[in-house]
Amino acid sequence: MSVVTDKTIICRCEDLTIEEIREWISKGYDGFEEIKRATRIGMGACQGRTCRRHLLIELARAGQKSPSDIDLSTFRPPTKPLKFGAITGVDKDE
Ligand code: FES
Repeated sequence: MSVVTDKTIICRCEDLTIEEIREWISKGYDGFEEIKRATRIGMGACQGRTCRRHLLIELARAGQKSPSDIDLSTFRPPTKPLKFGAITGVDKDE
């Protein structure tokens, strides 16, 4: 029994279900960048740290490819969340 259902959230930041991603793939969107632009997956607060891997697996499964054969989008800095104070140099308590 699979714990993944159609309503399983694949991207928490952009509130996308696996069903929505599979619909885009069935429409012919078979690239990481295409789906990202259509759905905003990977463009949320975590910048895809959680969902990129899930999308990669779905694309590989749909295309019957190895995940290593799929081009990933590029990370834009910062690739990890930073506290605003780390950028500005201003301490929150100052
Ligand atoms: S979970 Fe998809 S961008 Fe954060």
